[in-house]
Amino acid sequence: MCGIVGYIGKKQAYPILIKGLKRLEYRGYDSTGIALINGDTHIYKRKGKVSDLESVIQDENLSGTIGIGHTRWATHGEPNDCNAHPHASQNGKFIIIHNGIIENYDRLKEKLKNRGYTFESETDTEVLANLIEYIYMKGGKAVTAEIAVRMALSKVIGAYGIVVIAKDEPDMLIAARKGSPLVIGVGEGEYFIASDATPIIEHTKTVIYLNNDNVAVIKRNELVLKTIQNDELIPEVQELTMDIGAIEKQGYDHFMLKEIFEQPQSITDTFRGRISLDLSEIRLGGLFDVMPKLEAAKRILIVACGTSWHAGLVGEYLIEEFARIPVEVEYGSEFRYRNPIITPEDIVIAISQSGETADTLAAIELAKQAGATVLGVCNVVGSSIPRETHAGVYTHAGPEIGVASTKAFTAQVTVLTMMALMLGHRKGILPDKLYRELIKELVAVPDKIEKILKQNENFVKIAELYKDATNSLYLGRGFLFPVALEGALKLKEISYIHAEGYPAAEMKHGPIALIDKNMPVYVLATKDKSYDKIVTNIQEVKARNGIVIAVVTEGDTVIKGIADHVLEIPKCHEAIAPLLTVVPLQLLSYHIAVMRGCNVDQPRNLAKSVTVE
Ligand code: G6P
Repeated sequence: MCGIVGYIGKKQAYPILIKGLKRLEYRGYDSTGIALINGDTHIYKRKGKVSDLESVIQDENLSGTIGIGHTRWATHGEPNDCNAHPHASQNGKFIIIHNGIIENYDRLKEKLKNRGYTFESETDTEVLANLIEYIYMKGGKAVTAEIAVRMALSKVIGAYGIVVIAKDEPDMLIAARKGSPLVIGVGEGEYFIASDATPIIEHTKTVIYLNNDNVAVIKRNELVLKTIQNDELIPEVQELTMDIGAIEKQGYDHFMLKEIFEQPQSITDTFRGRISLDLSEIRLGGLFDVMPKLEAAKRILIVACGTSWHAGLVGEYLIEEFARIPVEVEYGSEFRYRNPIITPEDIVIAISQSGETADTLAAIELAKQAGATVLGVCNVVGSSIPRETHAGVYTHAGPEIGVASTKAFTAQVTVLTMMALMLGHRKGILPDKLYRELIKELVAVPDKIEKILKQNENFVKIAELYKDATNSLYLGRGFLFPVALEGALKLKEISYIHAEGYPAAEMKHGPIALIDKNMPVYVLATKDKSYDKIVTNIQEVKARNGIVIAVVTEGDTVIKGIADHVLEIPKCHEAIAPLLTVVPLQLLSYHIAVMRGCNVDQPRNLAKSVTVE
C-alpha cells in the first residue's frame, strides 16, 4: 500500500527514484510524485502511474542528489494531482511522503486550522507535514527538524512509514516507521530508502530494516538511528540474499506469467533442505523450538487475508486430515475485531506473502496478548510478521511482483503440507509408509507442474472462448474447495469478471439458479474420494445447459464424455492436488485478462501489500 523511495548521496537522485518507484508500483498506482533538492526544493506530482509523471516532467531540470518519491494507493482523498504525495507544509519548510494512515488526523487538522493553517489536499499526510512545521516554527532555535519530526510523531495515532525533507537542513533525510515497512540500503557515501528491498537491490545488498518507533536521521556519510523518544540505537546491518533477476520480467510479458511459470522452481526452493535426501523425513528448522507445543496443541488458529487465507483453508484440511488437530481459519480483519476466544495453549499460524498485511499483523498482536504461541508462514524475508511471531517458516518463493498472488500461494500450500505431514508423523497418527509416500508425492510436484505448463496453448484456446463471459462459477470439494475459491479470486482480480467459488455440493442451495448456457462453470474434478459425487455435480450443471470446464486427472474418459472441455493434470494423491489444480486456473485467468486488455500485473483498485486496515 503506497511505495516509498528516497536517495541521498553523490549520484543524480531522479533516475534512481523513478526506477525505484517502478519497482514499487505494485504497491499502489493511483498517483506518483517526486521531490528533489536542487538549490531549492522542487515537487513534481500527478495522478496516474510513474510513466505518466515521467512523460510530463521530462523537460524539467531534474538534477539534485537528494530526493524522495511516492506511488500512492489512495486512502484519504480521491486519486488526483492534489492528493498525490509528496506533500509540503504550508510554509514549505517540510516535504513528506507517507505510507499508512494517521487515524487522529481530523483532530490534529482542526487544531492546526485553529492556529491558522489551511489545507490544499484531503490527505492525512498534509496534516502531518503541517504538524511537524508548526512544532518546528513554534519551538524556535531549540527545535531542530529532527526534534520536530519526533515530537509530531509522538502525537500521531496510526500507522506510518515516512520520509521527510527539511528545507532548512537540506543535506539530510529523516525516515520513520510505525507499522508501515521501511528499509534503508547502505552504500558508499550514499543511502537508499524504500518500502521494500526491490528498489535497493541493484545498488547495494547491505540494508537496515527499521523497526516500529524507529527514526533514522540520514546524511550522506552518516546514519543515526533513534527511537521516537530520542534513545539512540545501534543499527542492525543485514545482507540481502535476493538476486536482481528475481525482480525483472526476464522476457515474459507480465510478472504474473513469469511467476506462474516459476512455480516448479519456487516450490523446489520451498522444500529444499527441508526434506531429507532419502525422502524419509521433513525438518522445518524454524519450528524446532516450538515443536513440543505444536505437537501438544489442542487447537490451531490460522489467520490470513486474500489468497493467503485460501492457502490457510487448504492448511486446515491437511492438518485435520493428517495430524488430527482441530483447525479454525480466520480472516485477520474479522478476528481482530470480534473478541475471539484465544487461550495460551493455542497455536496461531499467520500466513502472509508480504509479511506486512495490517489486519494479519493486528491479529498476531491480539493472539500474543492472549498468550498464544504465534507462528508465521511468510515469503518476504525480514518483513514485519516474521519479526513479530515467535517462530515460523519462510516460503522462499522469491519476490512476487504481480499483484495477483500465484507462486506465493503454492509455496504457502507446500509449507502447510510439510507441516501437516511432519506433525502427523511425529504424533504417530500418520503411518511411516504413507508419510514417505506423501513426501515422494510432494517432491514430484515441480515436474508435474512442468507438464501442466506445457499445455499452455490449450489454455489460451479455452480462454478465447470464455473471455467475454460476465459471470463464472468455480466448484470443488474437499481439498479442492479452497482451490475453487482461489480460482474465482484470480479471475475477478485481474479480468474484472464476476466469479464465485463454491463447495460443489452447495451449488444446489443457490448458485444452480444462475446456471444457463452462458455460464462457464470451472469444476475441480480430479480422482479422489469425492470423484463420483463431483461427476454428479457436473451432470447437474450440464442438465441446465451450463458450460463445464473440468480440471481432471489425466486419462479420465468419464468426465471427458460429459464436460465441454477438460484440462488434465498428472495423477497425484488427493492431498497434493491443490498444488496442481490451481495452475490451470491461474493460467486461464491470466489469458482471459490479457485478452480483455486488462492490466494484469496492476489490476485496478488493488495493491500487492495492504498495510492499512
Ligand atoms: C492483497 C493482495 C493479495 C494477497 C492479500 C494478502 O489483497 O492483492 O494478493 O493475497 O493482500 O496479502 P499477504 O501479503 O498477507 O499474503
